[in-house]
Amino acid sequence: DWSMGAFREEAIRRIREQVGDKKVICGLSGGVDSSVAAVLIHEAIGDQLTCIFVDHGLMRLNEADEVVGMFRGQYNIPLVHVDASDLFIGELEGVSDPETKRKIIGRLFIETFEAEAKKLGGADFLAQGTLYPDVIESVSFTGGPSVTIKSHHNVGGLPERMNMGLVEPLRELFKDEVRKLGRELGLPERFVGRHPFPGPGLAIRCPGGITRDKLDILRKADAIYLEEIRNAGLYDAIWQAFAVLLPVQTVGVMGDGRTYDFVLALRAVTSVDGMTADFYHYDMQFLANTATRIINEVKGVNRVVYDVTSKPPGTIEWE
Ligand code: XMP
Repeated sequence: DWSMGAFREEAIRRIREQVGDKKVICGLSGGVDSSVAAVLIHEAIGDQLTCIFVDHGLMRLNEADEVVGMFRGQYNIPLVHVDASDLFIGELEGVSDPETKRKIIGRLFIETFEAEAKKLGGADFLAQGTLYPDVIESVSFTGGPSVTIKSHHNVGGLPERMNMGLVEPLRELFKDEVRKLGRELGLPERFVGRHPFPGPGLAIRCPGGITRDKLDILRKADAIYLEEIRNAGLYDAIWQAFAVLLPVQTVGVMGDGRTYDFVLALRAVTSVDGMTADFYHYDMQFLANTATRIINEVKGVNRVVYDVTSKPPGTIEWE
């Protein structure tokens, strides 16, 4: 892509100019944005960049290994992998209020990140994969009421606290352009085309009190759902798809026994930028097959429902 080639050159020039011979740290989330930012910055300044991947134990199946493997193996980018799952899940256990969950995760994320950055001897700059829609969304309109629908977590506040500058090379780009840039930089297609995944991870897909058992059930069901979507060739037609484990148990029958297990909701939406979204119109047979597989293979789920709410009035995530 010609324009992305030019963007890449210009972005590298600007990063070098901004950073000079100083040190940069980048928080990797496993998502497309922070990964593309990291690869771009590494191309510009090499090992002056260190990435920090905080595994909060709220990732999807195999996600942490895939991200760490790609960065260490394919790119050889210095990467600190912090397994903070006991810390996060310990503090989240039993918490059910959505905003409280988000605040706990945001706080622990900053504390963990800060501690790791200190171990590295600090850094002069913090790199983030901020996109143009993130920049717009954070502009508040004067005159109107200011309502926080969800507090999105990032490492906000950290640059000031640690006296760091910000490197945000994707600030002018939209999601589809970030994907083009990722391809231009040689990231694998399977990675570049990934659906967005929220910072608070599976915690906000487990309404009600969080437990390790519930997270395990959700992870298994979610993996089957996404496998079915890929097998049906639908992955790229969908903006985002995921499962939500409801805090509701219902009666079912399996073999000649009674079951009393959780309800799992499936969600899939199309969208351009995540600001508005339509629920995805699956073929009923696809839903039926997926539900059967999940109920047969995941212990703890005996009923599957499909969410037919668009945004607005629903949000994409349930919390
Ligand atoms: P909602 O649920 O607000 O989500 O319609 C819009 C998009 O944002 C993602 N999302 C988040 N991403 N941190 C993130 O990095 C968050 O706290 C967060 N909350 C929601 C969501 O997955 C969807 O793509």
